[in-house]
Amino acid sequence: MAPSETINHSHDCEKYADGVDWDELGFGLIRTDYMYTMKCTDGENFSHGHLSPFGNIELCPSAGILNYGQGLFEGLKAIRTEDSRIMLFRPKENALRMKMGAERMCMPSPSVEQFVDAVKRTVLANKRWVPPPRKGGLYLRPLLMGSGSNLGLGPAREYTFLIFASPTGNYHKGRAALNLYVEHKIHRATPGGTGGVKSVTNYSPVYQSQKEARGKGFSDVLFLDSVTGKNIEEISAANIFILKGNVISTPTLIYGTILAGVTRKSIIDIALDFGYQVEERMIPVEDLLEAEEAFCTGTAVVVNPIGAVTYRDKRVEYKTGEGALCQKLYETLTGIQTGRLEDKKGWTLEIN
Ligand SMILES: Cc1ncc(COP(=O)(O)O)c(C=O)c1O
Repeated sequence: MAPSETINHSHDCEKYADGVDWDELGFGLIRTDYMYTMKCTDGENFSHGHLSPFGNIELCPSAGILNYGQGLFEGLKAIRTEDSRIMLFRPKENALRMKMGAERMCMPSPSVEQFVDAVKRTVLANKRWVPPPRKGGLYLRPLLMGSGSNLGLGPAREYTFLIFASPTGNYHKGRAALNLYVEHKIHRATPGGTGGVKSVTNYSPVYQSQKEARGKGFSDVLFLDSVTGKNIEEISAANIFILKGNVISTPTLIYGTILAGVTRKSIIDIALDFGYQVEERMIPVEDLLEAEEAFCTGTAVVVNPIGAVTYRDKRVEYKTGEGALCQKLYETLTGIQTGRLEDKKGWTLEIN
């Protein structure tokens, strides 16, 4: 154990952190007690991570992450069940996605076991920040970055894997139905680029579209493929599904332009169990406009209804609310995540 890894147990870890309004959790950062750090130099493997008090980190101004965006992030949640157990949802999937992204970004990555162990340790050290049942989850943000200094363009010589945590509630307040703008001028990803991995470089380029759309009263933007501009891909940080009849469709991952969401994968399985036909395919905007329902999925948004989309000057509305499939999928997914429903698929990992 590293010298800095002395967890202060003077507070009762079973008690909740003071000063948090658990009923009003949104998606902003709430600083928790500890973060996890593990470093390695290029050509070596990660080993000996440690917990330390949450705080700022020091980087050389010429660090690879700051200059050339050599970095990835992940996102997953620890959820407290009604009987106060703490569960992670498919953390190995996040570990594997980070490994895949690390290869694309020429970085070493922690092994799946190291990743999951680090997540567990971060949650346990911040246990009092895991929200009460049904109030939200402790969001874990693993980062992998080129932290070594480098002036010339090329992979860094030192890497840092870091996890911090923050209690979060609804990403979109009250799971309000989204009013999406279909972005037809700016693109998020190109085939052969990094759209399919969780590179930090994929995110700030969407701010301009988001800002313009939000300025016009939309909740978020839906991106189109950059080759033809005719097919829907994904929302800035969530995957999309549409429903028509008994068929649920979601954009295919084969072009490497869409993030393979862990929630997306889980919703496909649940929808198949419900008896729906699920298609992963190219989805022309016209199919979106003719769908009966549309919803998006992600760790932060969970399964969120889409109430309306606007494409150029055409606006269409979708079914939302109690009778909608989206609600049924949400209840089932969160039922498994919170221990309310039996986890027949072995998706949850209890950690206390
Ligand atoms: C671009 C993008 N698409 C989709 C998702 C949903 O992925 P997941 O369900 O693994 O959270 C995310 C969030 O992580 C994302 O950033």
